[in-house]
Amino acid sequence: MKNSKKVLVVFFSRTGENYAVGNIEKGNTHIIAEIIAKETGGKLFRIETVKPYPDEYKACVEIAKAEKENNARPEVKDDVKVEDYDVIFIGYPNWWGDMPMAVYTFIEKHNWTGKTVVPFCTHEGSGLSGTERKLKDACKGATVSEGLAIKGTIAQNSQAQARQSVKKWLESILQGK
Ligand SMILES: Cc1cc2nc3c(=O)[nH]c(=O)nc-3n(C[C@H](O)[C@H](O)[C@H](O)COP(=O)(O)O)c2cc1C
Repeated sequence: MKNSKKVLVVFFSRTGENYAVGNIEKGNTHIIAEIIAKETGGKLFRIETVKPYPDEYKACVEIAKAEKENNARPEVKDDVKVEDYDVIFIGYPNWWGDMPMAVYTFIEKHNWTGKTVVPFCTHEGSGLSGTERKLKDACKGATVSEGLAIKGTIAQNSQAQARQSVKKWLESILQGK
């Protein structure tokens, strides 16, 4: 990537009890976000909700389901000036075939005109579930690159493998950028 491009790596990720990985101290998407930031020299920013999600997996799944059904916009803490960057990676876990609703809260606070948005997600079988299309709609005026979907269990337990997948994907999408 050309040095002149300013890169931001925004992500949402949850700790606590999760599917197939037990109780985790660093979320699966967080691990991938750190790899991307290291490889691109980008700045990391974590989207966090004012009201935390429960540590217990099943309780979290129920809350996330209701939020998706209601198209909720949970309030988020802090912010980062997306407008100051050229390339913005947006990372999230697949929650019910979508991004967590808090990612939409974050997106809707910003102006995406002229930005390059690069999606990445962790999941346990559903992949990106059409979230690239959803990002195209939500980040109005941005160009959305091909996303990366990586299993949460790989991110959590096989980091060398995860790093290889990230590097390969970055090489393919960032040529010329
Ligand atoms: C609320 C919730 C809903 C989920 N829904 C899906 C799903 O629909 N498809 C899927 O493949 N994985 C699903 N998962 C699994 C997560 O996508 C996966 O564990 C992910 O790596 C978690 O990332 P994180 O540790 O960064 O939060 C769900 C997990 C949670 C907590």
